[in-house]
Parts: sequence; C-alpha cells; structure tokens
Amino acid sequence: MEKITSLCKRRGFIFQSSEIYGGLSNSWDYGPLGVELKRNVKNAWWKAVVQRRDDMVGLDAAILMHPKTWEASGHTGSFADILVDCKKCKRRFRKDKIGDTCPDCGSKDFTEGRAFNLMLKTYLGPVEDASALSYLRPETAQGIFVNFTNVLNTARKKLPFGIAQIGKSFRNEVTPGNFTFRTREFEQMEIEYFVDPKDADKFYNYWVEERFNWYLNLGISKKNLRKREHEKDELAHYAKFCTDVEYNFPFGWSELEGIANRADFDLRQHAQFSGQKLTVPDLKENDGYPYIIEPSGGVDRSVLAFLVDAYFEEEVKGETRAVLKLHSDLAPVKVAVLPLLKKNDKIVELAHKIKEDLQKCMVSVYDDTAAIGKLYRRQDEVGTPLCVTVDVQSLEDKQVTVRDRDTMKQDRISVDKLKDYIFNKLYK
Ligand code: GAP
Repeated sequence: MEKITSLCKRRGFIFQSSEIYGGLSNSWDYGPLGVELKRNVKNAWWKAVVQRRDDMVGLDAAILMHPKTWEASGHTGSFADILVDCKKCKRRFRKDKIGDTCPDCGSKDFTEGRAFNLMLKTYLGPVEDASALSYLRPETAQGIFVNFTNVLNTARKKLPFGIAQIGKSFRNEVTPGNFTFRTREFEQMEIEYFVDPKDADKFYNYWVEERFNWYLNLGISKKNLRKREHEKDELAHYAKFCTDVEYNFPFGWSELEGIANRADFDLRQHAQFSGQKLTVPDLKENDGYPYIIEPSGGVDRSVLAFLVDAYFEEEVKGETRAVLKLHSDLAPVKVAVLPLLKKNDKIVELAHKIKEDLQKCMVSVYDDTAAIGKLYRRQDEVGTPLCVTVDVQSLEDKQVTVRDRDTMKQDRISVDKLKDYIFNKLYK
C-alpha cells in the first residue's frame, strides 16, 4: 500500500484533502491523472450496464432528499454502528469489530454499547431547527426508488428492467481508513434491477456473475477476486441475500461491491410513507410489487483495486521499472508522443502534429523533458499503454516507432497508418 500511496501522490493520482492546512484525515482529492482514471472506471461501468443494454436506463438524482425518505428506508432507525468506550484507555470502538477485548490496552471493561447513526446531518435554509434537518444521502439507491414510477412511465420499460446511477454518498464512518478504501465521502455505482418475484433468484445469480466478470474483463487478475455470500447475521436490514465481490488488497480480502436481493422492502416502504402507488400495472402477483436485485459498488474502491492490481516492479537491464499495467480503457493517458531529439525542430514539429491528431480522439500527451529511457519509465509508471517515438529517420521514411508498455516490443509504423494501428492495439 505504501508504494501505491506514494505513487499516487508523486504522479498526481490522489492527494490528501486540504493538504496545505495539514490535511483532513480520510478525505482525498483526485489529481490530474486520478480524475482521468476515475472517470474511465465510471465510463466503463456506465457503458457496460446502461448504454450497451436495452433493459437498463440511467438516472442522476439529487444528493439532498426529502427527510421522510430516510424514515421509509429505515436509515434513521437502523443505519447505525454500536459503539463502546474502553473504560481503561478511554478509546472508542465499533463493538462488532473488537469482540470483548480492547485492541489497544487489552482491557475487557467497556461502557454499554450506544447506537451511532452513520448519516451526516445538515440543515436546509437559514434556521437550524428540527424542521430544517436533512441528511446527505448514505446511498444513491433511494434516489432510484423514489423515482421508480417516474422512470416506469417515461421510459416505458417492462419487467425485468433496471435503473443505474453513479453519485456521491456520505457516511459518518467511525473507523475510516486504508487510503481511499473507507472514507466519509465516496462515490457509488448502483443498479436497482426490478424483476418478477418468481425470477428473483435467477437474476440475483445472473448479476453476481455479471458484476464479477466486469472486474475480470477490465484486467483484475482472477486470483485476487472472489465472491463471498453473507451470513444471515451480516445482512443489512433490507436484504434477503447478499454476495460480496471481494478483492485481495494488501490489507486483506475486502468488499468491492455487494449484490443484494432487497425483495420488495423499499417499494412497499416508500408506498406506505408517501401514500403513492409504486407498483407495476401488469404484475399480478405480490400486489404488483416487483423484487429488486441491487448490485452496488464503490467507485473509489474500484479505482484502488485497479491501481493495486496493475502495479508491477520488473527487472529490465539491471534496473527496476515500476509499471502500471492498466487496461487500456482505464489508462488515464492512452498515447505519449516523444521526440528523440528535442533540438531538431522538424522532429519536434512532426511529433506535435501526430500528438494533436491523436488528441482529437483519445487522451494523448507530448513530452520532451528528458532522455528517451526516462520518458518511457515515466509513462510506464502511470500506465500509458503506447509510446510513439519520432526520430531523424521518421523525417525521411515517414515512419515512427510504437512501443508497447507491457511487452516493451517496438514496431515501426508509417505515420498514415498510425491511427488504425493504435486503435487496433487499444480497442481490438
Ligand atoms: N445501496 C446499498 C449499499 O449502499 P453498501 O454495501 O453499504 O450497500 C455499497 O455499499 C458499496 O459502496 C460498497 O461495496 C463499497 O464499494 C462502497 N462503500 C460503502 N461505504 C463506503 C465508504 N465508507 N467508503 C468508500 N466506499 C464505500
């Protein structure tokens, strides 16, 4: 993890929030390369679950919602951790994380457990009283449930169909940590997939496979990914079943995404609290309430897993090269164009021209601030799949050298075929 956090800071993937003021712990900012990577992860998800499917539509609901939402969802009542204080060293812990012994001083003497609600509170408008109390959403899911009828009526979907959303969520976590793994502000990618109750098991299994394979298809190695079904006592208050997709982080196997069968809990609750009809007209069973299968993943956790999984150190000609073998869909920069001689105006001009042409369709950069070996290492370390080198010969034969990040193999390609060659390599 230290290598990843140091790379993230050094190369502009992730910075500590408010660093000039000493930092805000467990809050992180995505830098120039991090924002590209994060956006690529979200785009890959959106393409896979919305744009390439006929049974899915997207939504972008507000973070602030009517406070009744959280009563109906059960979050004001049940979204809490039980906290205990060690009477000897006075430290506070989550009861479920420590058993009966203080991890700091070994004492077994604790205060009674107290429920601590994880929702972040805020006040809307100028008066800070109970009527203005609101919450920053702890999950994006509720924005989907309250819009169920709006989407059903406008998108004219029939069961089974799903609504997908990416957005910020907030939880006043008691024990945040492990870099961006658990934070108080984070982004979720959530699907609520509505099905005929009799098909719920089938679609639950389908989505577990579908989501597991998404990570594999984007390059996560199989040995580092597993599925784990929740025990009954681990299930959230709304869930009938849940399977986590877990990644083998340097700090141990941890949840990337949960796929839950939420049954009809949410739609029934919101129907009751709002007095509105939230059923499907042509569903005869279960009073017209569909069941909901929910694959819910974290953007920040995915980004971290993709970074960890892609990081390699390799011995090349007696030197160590650090390389991020990111899938080309995720790599922040797709192509770097590098002139071999920066004092030769013609080479520089051609390199710029090639870069500008590529930049119209993919993120491409130009760099001439070091010798070629160093330029390659720099691009390897941030995961750029291809480097194009322009040399003296290029001015005569109109060919350039394309170097592959992973194999370090070099091909000589004519400039007028370069785009096709690059598209083939990146997007096969
Ligand atoms: N709507 C269901 C739901 O929110 P969850 O298991 O509490 O389920 C889903 O959260 C995903 O959101 C997690 O698998 C994780 O990737 C991400 N997530 C949850 N809490 C997080 C936190 N404090 N920091 C970063 N990501 C978090």
